[in-house]
Amino acid sequence: MSDFITSLKRTHYCGDVRETDSGKEVVLMGWVHRRRDHGGVIFIDLRDREGIVQVVFNPASAPAAHKEAHRIRSEYVLAVRGKVESRPEGMRNPDLKTGDIEVVADELEILNESRTPPFSLEEGVDISENVRLKYRFLDLRRPSIQRNLILRSRAAAVTREYMQKEGFLEIETPFLTKSTPEGARDYLVPSRVSPGMFYALPQSPQLFKQLLMISGFDRYFQIVKCFRDEDLRADRQPEFTQIDIEMSFICEDDLIRIMEGLMAHIFRACIGVELATPFPRLSYSDAISRFGRDNPDTRYGLELRDVTDILRATELKAFRETVDCGGVVKAMKVEDGSRLSRKDLDSLVDTATAFGARGLAWARVTPEGWTSPIFKFLKADEVRRINEAVGAAEGDIILFVSDAAAVVNDVMGNLRGHIAKKLNLIRPGVFSFTWITEFPLLEFSDAEKRYVSKHHPFTAPLPEDVPLLVSEPDKVRARAYDLVLNGSEIGGGSIRIHKKDVQAAVFRVLGLGEEEARGKFGFLLDALEFGTPPHGGIAFGFDRLIMMMSGAESIRDVIAFPKTQKASCLLTEAPTRVGIEQLMELSLKIVT
Ligand code: AMO
Repeated sequence: MSDFITSLKRTHYCGDVRETDSGKEVVLMGWVHRRRDHGGVIFIDLRDREGIVQVVFNPASAPAAHKEAHRIRSEYVLAVRGKVESRPEGMRNPDLKTGDIEVVADELEILNESRTPPFSLEEGVDISENVRLKYRFLDLRRPSIQRNLILRSRAAAVTREYMQKEGFLEIETPFLTKSTPEGARDYLVPSRVSPGMFYALPQSPQLFKQLLMISGFDRYFQIVKCFRDEDLRADRQPEFTQIDIEMSFICEDDLIRIMEGLMAHIFRACIGVELATPFPRLSYSDAISRFGRDNPDTRYGLELRDVTDILRATELKAFRETVDCGGVVKAMKVEDGSRLSRKDLDSLVDTATAFGARGLAWARVTPEGWTSPIFKFLKADEVRRINEAVGAAEGDIILFVSDAAAVVNDVMGNLRGHIAKKLNLIRPGVFSFTWITEFPLLEFSDAEKRYVSKHHPFTAPLPEDVPLLVSEPDKVRARAYDLVLNGSEIGGGSIRIHKKDVQAAVFRVLGLGEEEARGKFGFLLDALEFGTPPHGGIAFGFDRLIMMMSGAESIRDVIAFPKTQKASCLLTEAPTRVGIEQLMELSLKIVT
């Protein structure tokens, strides 16, 4: 073993060397990203977590190092001592943070060799994600993922900084616990000492954070893992991280103000973006009516207008029949319709059908009226009023979908996103936040034939809506709020019920008998009887937040060791079978 590693101390990260260091001697340690031989001179791109720097091995000035450099291959680990020199004009690389300099090596130690990696670690090379996840330790060497995880670490640090400054205490809550009511399936953990009994991994720390308020901690936060066994998508993982928050003696406005401050602090400190606060607020019903969904992307317009009333007596059969059956017709204006050819419109019809519509009608606004397959069925007055309702001008296109309201909103909500992408309406680097408020407290579950909570059963109803709990439960609005960023729900929370009688009334509407409620959350119900302060909170999806800040396409790109769509880890091969002894110890038997 050489004593090189003990005789030399690293002075800089590769990515941190700058022109101001010219003339200095540096010691770098890192991985070989690339090697090139140029007429006897060997160039190495040396990489560490902070970036890449060019190292030059010259046969004349450092013959021993140059000789050793011939052995170097991709991903070898090196220690290099050398001098920083400015690159001559014309040789500079503006794409590299260190592109104005190079390090001319005097000494080289190969600290370790590497097998040829199974895939290229260069950016932009298309490699199957399954291979990348199997060799995640190599995939994590790619600069873009390293940047995401460095951003993640920084975001966690500045979150703690802000929360502590605002008087929040970081308190841990258990992972081995009882089912928490967030609506997904639980991950269960069998107990060895209590045969046949199971813990549930928390879907969120919801109940514990409310208990902490009852205990008087007043302001709590935690950056915490949550576990949900649900269908996975590009922005969902079975285990994910929340910034979880709860506060006492507050109402919606207090909480929203402090959370806007948190977002502003994180964005400023991590990516240098100044957010304009306060963020706009939109009621749930306005969000659905204007954007078709409760997580609208507000970076572009393409708003929906309900034109049902205008078309109540229309002779256009397709619309009339839908309206007669209680359905709706909604319209969306696309400005400067010349960007959509006839062929584009035909393919939009197919897209709408794929989203679940029975069809899509379109109209091109001209000085004479509309160019449209439905024009001849409409009266001049109907056309005029629709133009007015959507604010259409000459050259615009109007799109129509008619069906049951839920279908129309869903299809048009999806269509907005599709058209915005197709027409490049999304400007890069824009962060558009919106609070969605006044959610319905309950929704009717066709599967369960009963009302279920839209958030969770501890969400407080708006005081003026409490009487409706008995007469019209679906009209009751909740004191709940979601924070939506560029069309992604990055957080959600509510003011909680702190009075026993209101909680009992909500449980009654949910069809939760006294005994069942006790069985599920008896400890919380008990606690509610011992001086519960008014309180409320929120949880942000930390992974989603980092995804949005980094521009990552998938939640997997901001998690060091993520799971696949099938909730497995390709690196460790979890989940795996376990031996019979282990099952027996847990009093378990596999029956399938
Ligand atoms: P909720 O269920 O809305 O609220 O979760 C809060 C936020 O967590 C993120 N999130 C997820 N991120 C990645 N993968 C998932 N599977 C996943 N599920 C949720 C979302 C979401 O907005 N206890 C309440 C909060 C409260 O009321 O204070 C809760 O967990 O960004």
